[in-house]
Amino acid sequence: MSTIQVVSTIAELHDRLGQARDSAALTGGDTRIVLVPTMGALHAGHLALVRRAHTLGGIVVVSIFVNPLQFGAGEDLDNYPRTLDADVAALGAENVSFVFAPNAREMFPGGESDTRVTAGLVGSLYEGAARPGHFDGMLTVVAKLLGIVTPDVAVFGQKDGQQAFLVRRMVDDLNVRSTIEVVETVREPGGLALSSRNRYLDHEQHTAAQTLFAGLTAAVEAAETGPAAALVAAHARIAAQPLVKLDYLVIVHPETLLTVHDDYRGPARLLVAARVGKTRLIDNVSLCLG
Ligand code: PAJ
Repeated sequence: MSTIQVVSTIAELHDRLGQARDSAALTGGDTRIVLVPTMGALHAGHLALVRRAHTLGGIVVVSIFVNPLQFGAGEDLDNYPRTLDADVAALGAENVSFVFAPNAREMFPGGESDTRVTAGLVGSLYEGAARPGHFDGMLTVVAKLLGIVTPDVAVFGQKDGQQAFLVRRMVDDLNVRSTIEVVETVREPGGLALSSRNRYLDHEQHTAAQTLFAGLTAAVEAAETGPAAALVAAHARIAAQPLVKLDYLVIVHPETLLTVHDDYRGPARLLVAARVGKTRLIDNVSLCLG
């Protein structure tokens, strides 16, 4: 097992990746580079992405960058958990080759760039409606990371379903030469999707937050009767928990991410967002309507 290398500049990353590729090529190893973009504060959900990455290529790079572009005014940029030492230790145990952990100056040497990727209509819905500009900022930094690392594959989590959809679409629309791989959501035994923000929940809020997944499960069970019935089932379950303040609950077509009509039958996704105390949580599941 080779030791993990933590790199904070783009130039150094390019050097080290070149060396890693050359030595893999010499020894007949796997020269494919796989990128797992993260904002750190790693948990078992992130590590599931890393494990998938190992099945997709021999050189695994995890980026850790708390991207200022995707946080709005009044959001938790300054308080976002930063746990680099623990993250590096966890990634070392997962046999990751490189951690790319640039600071904001390295990513934006001239200040925030004027050039932005825009996420379009779907970027303005659901999470985008609650967090204006969030997806433009997310896509802009993902485009930069893909440009810096030029991975063969980049791995994302289904937990952030709208994000994964938009990244896939950007890569298609802009002919980016990386394949996007999406890993299913990792959950606690009680169903709550793992998230860096779960640490903000106290015991009572944590228990209440499990209602979100209970709502999604109720929708999956009611999906046979159509979208409206599935939404009613989820809504009833979630509304019964007063600590959970629902923001949106929508059923969307998996290929467009636009809401489906009540006569739609076929595969779909249910997207949900809610606040528990000050903490905003999101989740989604796949449904088969009809
Ligand atoms: P972050 O929230 O750190 O998440 C990094 C990746 O881990 C994302 O692809 C996310 O979907 C995935 N992930 C988080 N929780 C998960 C879970 N419970 N199960 C499976 N995957 C999970 O998402 C971001 O960072 C940023 O927007 C980023 C893509 C890094 C761009 O700044």
